[in-house]
Amino acid sequence: MTGGDELVRAFELRGERAAEALDWLHVHAEVQGAIEDEQVVTVWLDGPLPPLPFADVVVRELVLDPAAATVTGLEHDAPIQVAADLLVRPPWVERPAGFRGIELILPRGGAFGSGEHGSTQAALRCLHAVWDAPPSFADIGCGSGILALYAHVRGCRQIDACDIDPASVQAASELLPTAAVHLGGPERCRRADGVVANMTGSELRAAMPAILDRWTGLRALVLSGLRATEVEAVAALVPRPVAHRETVGEFTSVAYRGFR
Ligand SMILES: C[S@@+](CC[C@H](N)C(=O)[O-])C[C@H]1O[C@@H](n2cnc3c(N)ncnc32)[C@H](O)[C@@H]1O
Repeated sequence: MTGGDELVRAFELRGERAAEALDWLHVHAEVQGAIEDEQVVTVWLDGPLPPLPFADVVVRELVLDPAAATVTGLEHDAPIQVAADLLVRPPWVERPAGFRGIELILPRGGAFGSGEHGSTQAALRCLHAVWDAPPSFADIGCGSGILALYAHVRGCRQIDACDIDPASVQAASELLPTAAVHLGGPERCRRADGVVANMTGSELRAAMPAILDRWTGLRALVLSGLRATEVEAVAALVPRPVAHRETVGEFTSVAYRGFR
């Protein structure tokens, strides 16, 4: 059992678009864990698998050992070292002895973005590499609010965030009470000097005109969540040269510098 009363269930997703189906599930279900292999993804969900919009992905439910049902998952939590001087940890995990860098402390669960996903880590690494202290910042597709939290701990005092998922808006509002967190797309945010958006390649493409409209262009823009085949086409939608890129696992982020 989990914190709610739903039983954790496990599903094997097979097919060329299995990884895409996992991306989709992160947004549309309560993903408790996943293992990605070549064309096969095993995913643990808090409850049933919602109908997938990928006809070519073959689904098989796996039988779980009821003896493992008392495991909460929290026992295995550990700090996530994103860069030598940047780590993410839940509040119930202690700071590693001797660590002197930036810590992002946020609970795991509730919304996408606890620091474990490659796209989040790539976004954080890129933001960290090009950080230019924007006076205003917008986190598009904020999930838990982890990227907005980075801006907050770096001292940014005007932060907007948005997500089309109500649970994410609630999680980010709780994490960052001083930020303006909006339900909806980028058009809901105020214009900002620094902008980050971590979404799937197709979501980035669709939202790009609105993202660029919200960016003043004065400080850095970071895009993340790109799979290798998507990087060049999506990166080219921004009319500036890519200044920095990071790849973590299967996900790449790109950064553009601002013109102050
Ligand atoms: C991959 S998660 C990223 C969460 C978090 N920012 C992180 O880096 O871990 C993408 C999020 O974008 C949201 N999203 C997708 N399309 C969106 C759009 N057009 N406008 C706002 N949010 C969107 C999804 O609901 C999801 O929470």
